[in-house]
Amino acid sequence: MKEAINQSRLPTPKTIFLSLIILSLFILIFLSLQSHNSLQKPISTNPTHGLKIRPGYTSYDTYIHHQLQKTTNPKLRKIWTTRDWARKIRVFQRFFNRLKQEKLLSTTSKALCIGARVGQEVEALKRVGVNNSIGLDLVPYPPNVIKGDFHYQPFDDETFDFEFSNVFDHALYPDKFVGEIQRTLKIGGICVLHVAVSRRSDKYSANDLYSVEPLKMLFNGSELVRSRKVDGFGLDTEVVFRKKKS
Ligand SMILES: C[S@@+](CC[C@H](N)C(=O)[O-])C[C@H]1O[C@@H](n2cnc3c(N)ncnc32)[C@H](O)[C@@H]1O
Ligand SMILES: *[C@@H]1O[C@H](CO)[C@@H](O)[C@H](O)[C@H]1NC(C)=O
Ligand SMILES: *[C@@H]1O[C@H](CO)[C@@H](O)[C@H](O)[C@H]1NC(C)=O
Repeated sequence: MKEAINQSRLPTPKTIFLSLIILSLFILIFLSLQSHNSLQKPISTNPTHGLKIRPGYTSYDTYIHHQLQKTTNPKLRKIWTTRDWARKIRVFQRFFNRLKQEKLLSTTSKALCIGARVGQEVEALKRVGVNNSIGLDLVPYPPNVIKGDFHYQPFDDETFDFEFSNVFDHALYPDKFVGEIQRTLKIGGICVLHVAVSRRSDKYSANDLYSVEPLKMLFNGSELVRSRKVDGFGLDTEVVFRKKKS
């Protein structure tokens, strides 16, 4: 018995071999976790803290397909254009009236609403007298919303005096989303974003924002006019930028 116990304490070639296999397994698992993490880092070139791109969009097509799934849903479109229609317009009108009082928007502004879906925000702009208004979305809704991707806006440089969006969280490439706004705004033009910073947005979001700091970094050709808390359909913060002379 004694002999047997002593023998089992000596590492046999077999146990050394097994230990080596287990060790290399651990190393492999560690390495694969490392590369997985690096894939989950923001796609954006900015080393921006407080802004995370959601993993899981394996290609741009997957992302677009996911966005379209909800936007083209016939039952939802029916609700958006009936039950939700007037209610949302009223709320948007309040936001835009305030911006008019603050001289950040005027009836002569040429205005764009990004990710406008069925365009209640466009309708609201028209009702507060900003007649020259149009919406942009992957799915058109004539006459107020035309088809286009906000990562590649179908407009010339310096087209708009005012751009509004409550869909920043749907941008897979936040730097392109903001870059296109800065490109199509006139110098001195105003961009108003409604974003969620202290709550998570829906499962169709492509990024999560944890403060307004990343926006300040992304709007590198603009100045921050102001930022305030709002209650806008699950979005809690209104951020206003003005495009600077280049
Ligand atoms: C949460 S909905 C907001 C709709 C509208 N702004 C409102 O408040 O009722 C997000 C919208 O963004 C649109 N969208 C998502 N990705 C887009 C993209 N890359 N380019 C243009 N629109 C996009 C979707 O089609 C959807 O209509
Ligand atoms: C905007 O359109 C409405 C309705 O057509 C009109 O009554 C209003 O005068 C127009 N406003 C401007 C600033 O052109
Ligand atoms: C702003 O950032 C973009 C990249 O996100 C870059 O291409 C551009 O040159 C920058 N512009 C300024 C004015 O720094």
